[in-house]
Amino acid sequence: MNLAQEVAKRRTFAIISHPDAGKTTITEQLLLYSGAIRQAGTVKGKKSGKFAKSDWMAIEQQRGISVTSSVMQVDYDGYQINLVDTPGHEDFSEDTYRTLMAVDAAVMVIDSGKGIEPQTKKLFQVCRMRGIPIFTFMNKLDRDGREPMELVAELEEVLDIDAYAMNWPMGMGKQFLGLYDFYNKRVELTHPEENGGNDFLPLNDEGEVDGEYKFKESSIYTDTLENAELMREAGNQFDEERIAEGELTPVFFGSALTGFGVQTFLDAFVDFAPAPSEIETVEEGHPVEPTDKELSGFIFKIQANMDPRHRDRIAFVRICSGTFEEGMDVKVTRTNKKIKLNNTTRFMADTRENVKEAVAGDIIGLYDTGNFQIGDTIYTGKDAVEFPPLPQFTPELFMKVSPKNVMKQKSFHKGMQQLVQEGAIQLYRTWHSEEYIIGAVGQLQFEVFQYRLLNEYNSEVEMSSMGNKIARWISEEELDPKMSSSRNLLCRDIHGKPVFLFENNFAVNWFQGKYPDVHLEALL
Ligand code: G4P
Repeated sequence: MNLAQEVAKRRTFAIISHPDAGKTTITEQLLLYSGAIRQAGTVKGKKSGKFAKSDWMAIEQQRGISVTSSVMQVDYDGYQINLVDTPGHEDFSEDTYRTLMAVDAAVMVIDSGKGIEPQTKKLFQVCRMRGIPIFTFMNKLDRDGREPMELVAELEEVLDIDAYAMNWPMGMGKQFLGLYDFYNKRVELTHPEENGGNDFLPLNDEGEVDGEYKFKESSIYTDTLENAELMREAGNQFDEERIAEGELTPVFFGSALTGFGVQTFLDAFVDFAPAPSEIETVEEGHPVEPTDKELSGFIFKIQANMDPRHRDRIAFVRICSGTFEEGMDVKVTRTNKKIKLNNTTRFMADTRENVKEAVAGDIIGLYDTGNFQIGDTIYTGKDAVEFPPLPQFTPELFMKVSPKNVMKQKSFHKGMQQLVQEGAIQLYRTWHSEEYIIGAVGQLQFEVFQYRLLNEYNSEVEMSSMGNKIARWISEEELDPKMSSSRNLLCRDIHGKPVFLFENNFAVNWFQGKYPDVHLEALL
């Protein structure tokens, strides 16, 4: 195997979107085009009764949702695509954010009837911080939605990212004639049967279609030509470097449901999305290159209790360099422990299979008996490698928690400590009374926490919701414990650092007004 060639074929990305924007539908199209599935409807599986994503936990089955960020690897047009799922809705959690640490690009799917929604914005901000390229797919053009111009302007205004339209819709809803494609210099037609059987027609030097066709009779076509002219003159310039830096998002229009425009999007995406590249380590100036001979990777997620009969866990590893081979020995940097990687897994649309070989850019699952933690680096070779710690994310939801049975304090503490270490939940203690407070970015984290404490540590807990809070950190030097009030509860985080849990934005502003010199900080 030629490692450089294999790495160059990898495209590792996630789809970021608000629930219902069409992530599942577009994933399905990708799987269809790649030949991984033969029939639409198999990914979601709710209707067909067949779960494509593994039903790993009992909660997952009960709720009919996927708790986990699963990974799919498929071939598309000569590329090896690794698509990492980002759970949303009630199953939104820190894992969703951490998944974005393991990808090289993101596809942002937006419902063109709704525009940018809250979850898209949150996930976008994490991608932005990482500086990875973000490709936008404006979905549901088969329905009447908002004006394309408005949607593109919203990207710039709300997300503060420049946008470049790769194509432009000719109408929408019932009047959707097709796409005016700047990038491929052609129009793509929704109704080839009415237009001489043509799916595509080339644009001439003036940016028009030669010849007589039905779609050209519509005023929609002439309006599109005007819009196209406007975009050429007043819009952003296409700039591959700015796309690579995540400063400019290429925008594509289409309909995931009908499949229209999806292949056009995917073809451009695999061309422009980056192959795996160097990754910084804690040792400045010593990044890891994907084509380095030695293997290195980091664990970005641990999924526990996949099989309730065993306490097995799966650690998801993003391979950053080299080649993984079944049965190889690796070292864990944190513990300096040597581990044989015998039982590893790769994820497909509806199966998991043992991995014999994988390269930089791929994501594999390692069966774990407690050797790994989120953020761990694994490596082969003489020289130790260590990737920087994964960022922590500011929780928004909080619960007070205590053991139901005071006689079982010990198992409660043990479970709590391990689940916090694993990154399942964030832990705080109130400053004076040292009560336990747990924080999460999504409600599901609490449920998983409660479920796992009971099932793995035999500890039943009382939880009482504190609702939404705004967590802001303050330095020890600036802190005066008297600053704490009912509107801003003072706590310590897991590292002992002081943090205020504010009631709401109003309370934050009030605090800043009262202590104008105090610096408050959020995590990511
Ligand atoms: P998600 O994974 O982002 O949550 O969204 P998903 O693909 O499940 O799509 C959400 C709903 O939007 C689904 O309808 C889906 O059929 C619809 N949808 C997705 N893409 C398009 C599109 O391009 N055009 C139109 N018109 N609809 C689209 P649903 O009725 O809520 O679900 P289902 O009952 O069809 O499963």
